[in-house]
Amino acid sequence: MSAQVFKPSANSIAQVAMLSIAIGVPTVWLSIAGLSRSPANTKVDVPLNQPVPFSHQHHAWELGIDCRYCHTSVEKSSYAGLPSTETCMSCHSQIWTNSPLLEPVRRSYETGTPIKWNLVNKVPQFVHFNHSIHINRGINCDVCHGAVQYMQITFKGNSFQMAWCLQCHRAPERYVYKDETAPATEAPRNQVFNLYWKFQEKGMSNLSDREKEILHGDYGGSDDAQDKTKGKELVSKYGIHVAQLADCSVCHY
Ligand code: HEC
Ligand code: HEC
Ligand code: HEC
Ligand code: HEC
Ligand code: HEC
Repeated sequence: MSAQVFKPSANSIAQVAMLSIAIGVPTVWLSIAGLSRSPANTKVDVPLNQPVPFSHQHHAWELGIDCRYCHTSVEKSSYAGLPSTETCMSCHSQIWTNSPLLEPVRRSYETGTPIKWNLVNKVPQFVHFNHSIHINRGINCDVCHGAVQYMQITFKGNSFQMAWCLQCHRAPERYVYKDETAPATEAPRNQVFNLYWKFQEKGMSNLSDREKEILHGDYGGSDDAQDKTKGKELVSKYGIHVAQLADCSVCHY
């Protein structure tokens, strides 16, 4: 294992994939909306069976591997992306090579057939979502996905229902956040990953209440007047267009 695996790759260049919002008329999605709601999509907190019992707790927390090592496109594109078998084999061709649990990984590597992970999170087709824009506004993964770094088998941390998305889109100043102790020049997206490193270095008990809530996956926005004032400053600094953020065409087009 090379040391670089464990360092945040803070120097990768951000490419904010700005979405061009079509100002078209959303009609099709309205008719398919009712049909597309699978009950499986709303199952929160239920671990999903996977071909390999992959543990985020082991890899992301105990080993301290940066999320971007495996979810390589999360700050650059709409999709976070899942790791290829090669990514797993960068370590598992050398360590735990005889583990029976890793047999499907070795077979995938030998046959060139990708592992078929079961998707945990999914919004319906008529909803648009974009990772990079959220990461580039400093929104931590755990705010949306729950405490991933503690998960043995990945489960859904939030319902991803419309009302939940809108809570933040209507008042992003309650959510945007910048760690005052981190250097002022840091891009907001680095705040996302710095928090995991701070947690590694300092431990949970030395984090602020807000940071603790984020990492416990139960952060629901701040009502503290001071936080909101700072939040408003960040909203204007990041150029977030609050007035339009809850428009239907932002997520449905
Ligand atoms: C060593 C590789 C690795 C690292 C590091 C890693 N992940 Fe993952 N992640 C995976 C794999 C493999 C899956 C698919 C299997 C699963 O769902 O557990 C996955 C799935 C996920 C999913 C669910 C995707 C879906 O199906 O909807 C989320 C959310 C996620 N990871 C977030 C994170 C976050 C946040 C971090 C950093 C704190 C992180 N991951 C670090 C490998 C990794
Ligand atoms: C940076 C190195 C690294 C990468 C990349 C990595 N792992 Fe691991 N993995 C480890 C280490 C180290 C352990 C053993 C941890 C322990 O038990 O102390 C481990 C343990 C495991 C185990 C448990 C094995 C057992 O017998 O208990 C599974 C399953 C696993 N990894 C799956 C994966 C998958 C799937 C991927 C790719 C998505 C992956 N790992 C990527 C380092 C890595
Ligand atoms: C603002 C909320 C939000 C944040 C922040 C967020 N995600 Fe997601 N994530 C989602 C939603 C919604 C989906 C389902 C998207 C879909 O169905 O197209 C998803 C899906 C995923 C998936 C599976 C599908 C894919 O895109 O490849 C992975 C992996 C993932 N997220 C990882 C991460 C990681 C890692 C981070 C932090 C670096 C993160 N997410 C931050 C909301 C979020
Ligand atoms: C914690 C806050 C938060 C949550 C939760 C959240 N968003 Fe966002 N979202 C934002 C912010 C901030 C932006 C950036 C807006 C800007 O820069 O003008 C954004 C932007 C977007 C954009 C791009 C708009 C554009 O201008 O291109 C889409 C699409 C989007 N969000 C969809 C969703 C969906 C769907 C969900 C729920 C599954 C969701 N968001 C949940 C905060 C959030
Ligand atoms: C921030 C993103 C976002 C915005 C803005 C948004 N929606 Fe949605 N909408 C969603 C998500 C996510 C779902 C899927 C909810 C689910 O699967 O439960 C959804 C689902 C729907 C549905 C399907 C019925 C349902 O409840 O599942 C309708 C109809 C709908 N939206 C209409 C609208 C209208 C009208 C507006 C403007 C007033 C709007 N949406 C604005 C994210 C958004």
